[in-house]
Amino acid sequence: TSEEEGRSTSEREGASTSEEEGRSTSEEEGSFWWGAATAAYQIEGAVTADGRGPSIWDTFSAEPGRVADGSSGANACDSYTRWPEDVELLSGLGANAYRFSIAWPRVQPLGHGRVNPGGLAYYDRLVDGLLERGIAPFATLFHWDLPQPLEDAGGWLVRDTAERFAEYAAVVADALGDRVACWGTLNEPFVHMALGYAFGTHAPGRVLLLDAFAAGHHQLLGHGLAVQALRSAGDVPVMLVNNLTPVRATSASPEDAAAAQVYDAFHNRMFLDTVLLGSYPDVLAEAEGAVARDGDLDTIAQPLDLLGVNYYNPTLVTAPGADNPLPFEIVPIEDHPTTGFGWPVVPEGLTELLVGLRDTYGDALPPVVITENGCSYPDEPGPDGTIDDAARIAYLDAHIDAVGAARDAGVDVRGYLAWSLLDNFEWAEGYTQRFGLTHVDFATGDRTPKASYAWFRDRIARDW
Ligand code: NOJ
Repeated sequence: TSEEEGRSTSEREGASTSEEEGRSTSEEEGSFWWGAATAAYQIEGAVTADGRGPSIWDTFSAEPGRVADGSSGANACDSYTRWPEDVELLSGLGANAYRFSIAWPRVQPLGHGRVNPGGLAYYDRLVDGLLERGIAPFATLFHWDLPQPLEDAGGWLVRDTAERFAEYAAVVADALGDRVACWGTLNEPFVHMALGYAFGTHAPGRVLLLDAFAAGHHQLLGHGLAVQALRSAGDVPVMLVNNLTPVRATSASPEDAAAAQVYDAFHNRMFLDTVLLGSYPDVLAEAEGAVARDGDLDTIAQPLDLLGVNYYNPTLVTAPGADNPLPFEIVPIEDHPTTGFGWPVVPEGLTELLVGLRDTYGDALPPVVITENGCSYPDEPGPDGTIDDAARIAYLDAHIDAVGAARDAGVDVRGYLAWSLLDNFEWAEGYTQRFGLTHVDFATGDRTPKASYAWFRDRIARDW
């Protein structure tokens, strides 16, 4: 029954913490998940090793002008080889969870059919290494690195990709489901739809504006089908990982308010109402009518154990100018400090977001895990080799306090995973934006924990 399927994670853990299954590595049931997150293409490198096939990010980053510094993830942090160091870093933090992603093109180089044991073996080693250190593996199945052959067949614009995703989910569940602590299906489907298909600044680089909706719908369908596949394979908790943002209008005028409402529908509610309530927001009805088929929403609205929330900043929206083809316009938030990326630092937005989720979705909201939160700054070692990233410490401290305020207000938040364990390949920004608790010298691969690493270790030890 859906009630059973919707059991909370701690209940599921309670049910599966038997020694033979060894799935939960928390000391005691109900302990908070503390740790860090990464993604395959951003850290692994080794893009042709052991039979990995090409992904859309290999293709995209090879095109001149796509990535700020002309780089790619071909080497990145070389975590494919150096993962034992990364596990040691997590262990040194006192982390009890690590969110990483599995590269679909390592597992199925063609995106369907033939399974590549050499690729799966890497995740096998990683998962075992984490468990040996008492760190729960939180595995994301899709963090934007679609196998290129699937893109050649239409990518997320076609329904078939959703079916292929469920096939891949079943393969991974079969290989790792006896040890993974939590599955994440998609990472930030909104961002993949918007940057990959609407504006073309991420792979696959399509500029379809509102017609990108199909890529969102098919990701959602893939999510629902994958949840079904994961449930048939075992009882590992499952979550969807969304990028969420509190949306603010520049004024109370009906035009600005309407623009903010439409933006909120695309960014947040398209990926929440569908999954939690089984319907699209009304303002997306026309787009839905053009793409969705009968029964899709039932498939999409599978009960979830957790909701993964990636939070970076709120979004300020105004009515579109006359030459804007979109029904909204995003404007910079001026009255807050900004990160190295130029993103506004608004910790209270995270409390607002979490309390808003609870107020909007009520009992339909599963427990939440903060699956990403962090900031980039141009951190370089000082003369003595240390990296004094005081601004990151202030950012993380304020945002963890913002999570604490939401918990105090009664929101069920079960974990906080910082983005990121390592400086890494920041997509269209290449290696120019450093989000890590650990500095990476991309010429040598050397890892140097920053001051924020030691600070986060102490904060984790305090455990609220
Ligand atoms: C969210 C994405 O999931 C991650 O890949 C990215 O590096 C961070 N945001 C920072 O932009």
